[in-house]
Amino acid sequence: MTPPTADRDYWEDRARRQGPRAAGYSDAAMDAYEDRLRQSAIERLLGPGRGRHLLDAGSGSGRWSVRMAQAGWLVTGADISESLIALATPAPNVTYVHGAIEDLDVPAATFDAVLSVTVLQHITNDQHFGAALDNLARMLRPNGVIAVLEYAPLRVFGRMPAYMKARSRREWIEAFTSRGLKPRSESGIRFLGHGPYMLAVHLARLLGRTDPQLIALRAVCRALDLTLARIPGLTLVADVRLITFEKTQQ
Ligand SMILES: C[S@@+](CC[C@H](N)C(=O)[O-])C[C@H]1O[C@@H](n2cnc3c(N)ncnc32)[C@H](O)[C@@H]1O
Repeated sequence: MTPPTADRDYWEDRARRQGPRAAGYSDAAMDAYEDRLRQSAIERLLGPGRGRHLLDAGSGSGRWSVRMAQAGWLVTGADISESLIALATPAPNVTYVHGAIEDLDVPAATFDAVLSVTVLQHITNDQHFGAALDNLARMLRPNGVIAVLEYAPLRVFGRMPAYMKARSRREWIEAFTSRGLKPRSESGIRFLGHGPYMLAVHLARLLGRTDPQLIALRAVCRALDLTLARIPGLTLVADVRLITFEKTQQ
């Protein structure tokens, strides 16, 4: 494929400006809040690796590659940004490769699982998005699992930043089921706790404070969201979701 220049240039530039932090939320408080919620959902829905092979698609600076290797997976982290791959944290059982998901040239059925944490939503060109999903499905072995943690509201309202192409929950599900993958499980990531915590963070910043009570508030809000994430059906009120799909036997 022709290189997806706009997306690659965006992440290269962001990596030059922000270093390894370029792969996370620009707002450190938001990153700290959501990181634990994401980890809990990934652990629950993907489980331990037990020596199986996982592709961390869009690995950024390696946050999830390292954690998934610690959970027993043999990890390949791949990213479109050469700078982020160069900055990625080395770890046992993690190999990093530079390349766009749509161009990764590995044999079919190589991986037992694929994880994409806020990556596919950043493929802004529809043709590249389709090619990326085709290639992920090709690289996954039969009965393997793809876990996508992305912005996925029931409906998309408003304009998104240029580096993001938002898709509704239904669009994500259609994109994978049309490629022979079957929905397997789903969890919401952030719920009622997120709003009050971020409001308190912004107020504290306006008042020029770094209030230690925010740490206690974060713990309470996060505990609420961690609890809500385990209630079946409630996932539909979350706008960020982890959805897993299984590749049916072909
Ligand atoms: C928001 S960051 C998330 C990084 C990592 N998954 C994490 O959660 O820390 C998005 C990442 O997707 C990568 N990316 C964007 N488009 C890509 C593509 N077509 N192929 C591979 N990586 C891509 C970017 O370079 C960036 O590292």
